[in-house]
Amino acid sequence: MSVTYNIAVIGAGLMGHGIALTLAKAGHSVTITDPVAEARASVADRIRHSMQAMGDDEQTIVDALSLIAVADSTAGAVAKADVVFEAAPEKMALKQAIFADIEAHAPDDCILASNTSVMPITEIMSGLRLKNRALGTHWWNPPHMIPLVEVIKTEWTDPAIAQTMFDLLEQAGKTPVMVEKDVPGFIGNRLQHALWREAISLVENGICDAEAVDTVIKSSFGRRLAVLGPLENADLVGTDLTLDIHQNVLHDIEARQGPSPYLETLVADQKLGMKTGEGFRKWTEDEADAVRARVASHLKKLETILES
Ligand SMILES: NC(=O)c1ccc[n+]([C@@H]2O[C@H](COP(=O)([O-])OP(=O)(O)OC[C@H]3O[C@@H](n4cnc5c(N)ncnc54)[C@H](O)[C@@H]3O)[C@@H](O)[C@H]2O)c1
Repeated sequence: MSVTYNIAVIGAGLMGHGIALTLAKAGHSVTITDPVAEARASVADRIRHSMQAMGDDEQTIVDALSLIAVADSTAGAVAKADVVFEAAPEKMALKQAIFADIEAHAPDDCILASNTSVMPITEIMSGLRLKNRALGTHWWNPPHMIPLVEVIKTEWTDPAIAQTMFDLLEQAGKTPVMVEKDVPGFIGNRLQHALWREAISLVENGICDAEAVDTVIKSSFGRRLAVLGPLENADLVGTDLTLDIHQNVLHDIEARQGPSPYLETLVADQKLGMKTGEGFRKWTEDEADAVRARVASHLKKLETILES
């Protein structure tokens, strides 16, 4: 039988509301807080909206919402918490201050997790009195739809505590993966940005345009990725063939340490992507909306297909 926990979620934005709904749906009691009154006031409606978009029925929504309380302060949210998920803005000093506040008010055996995208968990948690109960949980956006959560250990994290977190997430229907060392980008973003670095380089070097890069991925290996990881794929085609390919290709693949000058120029020119109408490609608002709708619909369908 799965254990139910008192969970606190700190920050009721995009990630916090999705983390809260996922854990409440799994039967945990969740208290969520945010310093912005509007975020506190709107969180129940945003959770309802996200659950409706996922196809949850009214009873499931009502049951989940009945397990979610909204607190006025971090101190109030964590007072009786077994587990805290921090999902506040991506600023080091802010996160460190939040964890100091959490540690001052949460029970000493409460597990503390940060949802930072890329900042070192070790640095976020460095000021804590009890560092062995602190770790990273990197949920992906939207947290209620993307299965993966990376569980990141620091050098101080008690392995038993990391395992408790892993089990909690698995029982809540997520797909946790243990990250044994606190490295920049953890696992997923290292892999993702290795691909993006080469994608940008192909355009920068005039080998193809941005649309061609996206078409190649979406129409070829991207189709397999949800069911066949790269190392499974290497075993499928043979490690000998993989070695032959690497001997012929790796020397020509982008390996620069820093960001691409092409990307830096786009940003300097305010070509920030869909929000400004142009990035690697030009976007009308309708086209940008169509991309967002396509991703949401695909993720929903994929859940059904992969479950069957
Ligand atoms: N958006 C993503 O795709 C994504 C994916 C993975 C991880 N993350 C990480 O999750 C965290 C939250 O990101 P988000 O996209 O939900 O941001 P967001 O801006 O949607 O939400 C952040 C919320 O934190 C609140 N907040 C501000 N100060 C706070 C404080 N002192 N205490 C508590 N809450 C505070 C804000 O009012 C806001 O509601 C960040 O660390 C981000 O890097 C984001």
